[in-house]
Amino acid sequence: MCGIVGYNGKNKAIDILLDGLSKLEYRGYDSAGVAVQEKDIKIYKAKGKIINLEEKLKNKKLNGTCGIGHTRWATHGEPSETNAHPHVSNDQSVTLVHNGIIENYQELIKKLQKHGYIFYSQTDTEVLANLIDYYYKKYKNGPSDAINRTMVRVRGSYAIAVMFKNHPDEIWVARKDSPMIIGKGKDGVYLASDVPAILKYTNNVYYIDNLESACLKKDEIIFYDLNGDTIEKELKVIDWDITSAEKEGYEHFMIKEIHEQPEVIKKTISSYINDGSIDFTKCNLTKDILKNVEQIYIVACGSAYHVGVCASYVIEDLARVPVRVDVASEFRYKNPLLKENDLVIIISQSGETADSLAALREAKNRGIKTLAIVNVVGSSIAREADYVLYTLAGPEIAVATTKAFSTQLIVSYLLAIELACAKKQIDKEVYSDLLKEMQSLPEKVNNILNDDLKGIQKIASELSSAQDAFYIGRGLDYAISLEGSLKLKEISYIHSEAYAAGELKHGTISLIEDNTLVIGVVTQEAVYEKTLSNLTEVKARGGYILTISPDNIDVSKVSNYKISIPKTNKFFYPSLTVIPLQLLGYYIAVSRGVDVDKPRNLAKSVTVE
Ligand code: AGP
Repeated sequence: MCGIVGYNGKNKAIDILLDGLSKLEYRGYDSAGVAVQEKDIKIYKAKGKIINLEEKLKNKKLNGTCGIGHTRWATHGEPSETNAHPHVSNDQSVTLVHNGIIENYQELIKKLQKHGYIFYSQTDTEVLANLIDYYYKKYKNGPSDAINRTMVRVRGSYAIAVMFKNHPDEIWVARKDSPMIIGKGKDGVYLASDVPAILKYTNNVYYIDNLESACLKKDEIIFYDLNGDTIEKELKVIDWDITSAEKEGYEHFMIKEIHEQPEVIKKTISSYINDGSIDFTKCNLTKDILKNVEQIYIVACGSAYHVGVCASYVIEDLARVPVRVDVASEFRYKNPLLKENDLVIIISQSGETADSLAALREAKNRGIKTLAIVNVVGSSIAREADYVLYTLAGPEIAVATTKAFSTQLIVSYLLAIELACAKKQIDKEVYSDLLKEMQSLPEKVNNILNDDLKGIQKIASELSSAQDAFYIGRGLDYAISLEGSLKLKEISYIHSEAYAAGELKHGTISLIEDNTLVIGVVTQEAVYEKTLSNLTEVKARGGYILTISPDNIDVSKVSNYKISIPKTNKFFYPSLTVIPLQLLGYYIAVSRGVDVDKPRNLAKSVTVE
């Protein structure tokens, strides 16, 4: 997704803008640009990586202390310098960067063309620059009025930063549905699409809500509502440290974040355990509320959806509450069957995924209670849900989620146990045994990371030429296979599929031939023999079998390669099996020489439909 940055203060803007854009590279992009207030507003743009923009900026004297920047993930119009942001109005009096999609941009182009405007790019963004300019000139009420009129007129999503020729050393911002954070530091004011771009300068931030705007001056920020009245905002503190947004000696953010999992799992568990019991009081999710829940809908995208699938098995088995799991892009358009005592759970690392945010709003519009499991504090989903359970994974930079995924699993287990307790489905002994075993997970994850690493790295390099891969399992082993398959696909570009092991005979087994890679996850004691039979059938047809299982399950007869994991409670195996699955995906991708942290075509947070 696009990334926007801005700075207004006493230091040179260009250095801060380029540094901020580099911290947003993980969002995915194909071009970049900056605008800096010198005597006039100077604009530089380049197709491709930020390094191409830096090349253009060499020997340019940019001493201005106010500017905006942008990394573009093309939606309307091909990746090109013309389509790169910033975009300007026809007479260059308005300069603008934008993250989002303007849905009625064609209609607005026609309107503006009637007033003599000409369009040079294929983007929807250029409309915003000219529309703001149109209202600014027509009503002569200044930037706030022009921006408010524009927000009323456009349909879609946007986070915009705007500079006006007649208002030097001011940055104007506005948003609807696309993320934006505003930081206040000792050396000035900062804006960005995401926290990592400003963490180096300040932890003090403001959240701007939908259809609000603001003027960022050198040492103050004035917020406005849609009527143009000023509004007060509370300064919040982000308790993430800058090292979380640096690689700290690791080759990639992804492997760093894989290794951070024991620590962040422990931190997340500790944040919800108080005196030996689960404590959700800080998010007002009481047992009284939970005991009345009759059905749960878990809605999410990608890996977060896979957490939902895992959670559905644990919640139904423990709490005996029916759970439906849906990808957000389906849920929001299917006219979902929701009843008064349902609970819709939205799982999202970024808290900004457009489909998940829309699903949340759909549930709220129907008067259904909503719970968000989110990693980014103050994100849109976190702010709009009725209840929020935060994961404490810290900033996750790699596009492929790992530590956020693992902490989402933890929060899901805690919720399942608390719900089972509220529903009187488990007694105190089971409750405390589960919590005790859960608190052993950080150590067990750590053991996998220490014991298996070399072996997994070696087998991964041997498997890196695979053309296809199948991940199979039953129950929670099937659920985590979904995640293992996505990890491989999204960062190594190898086609893979995850199947319920019992499904193989219904079609897929026809695809198995000599050396087809099949990864079998085998942890669930109640069904492991059946999975072993499925794996034996695959092996009989020439498949290459890699298994992931605890030592109490003997998979030696069927495995070409076996990854051992520690034993744990059946509900918690996803937290252990996902580690080798992440490592396999990572090391296979590294062997294939791809850009692990920024896989092609992908963005860290999909903030457009
Ligand atoms: C997973 O590795 C991907 N990055 C992607 O599937 C991601 O999980 C999905 O886009 C949901 O993102 P969210 O958790 O920020 O909503």
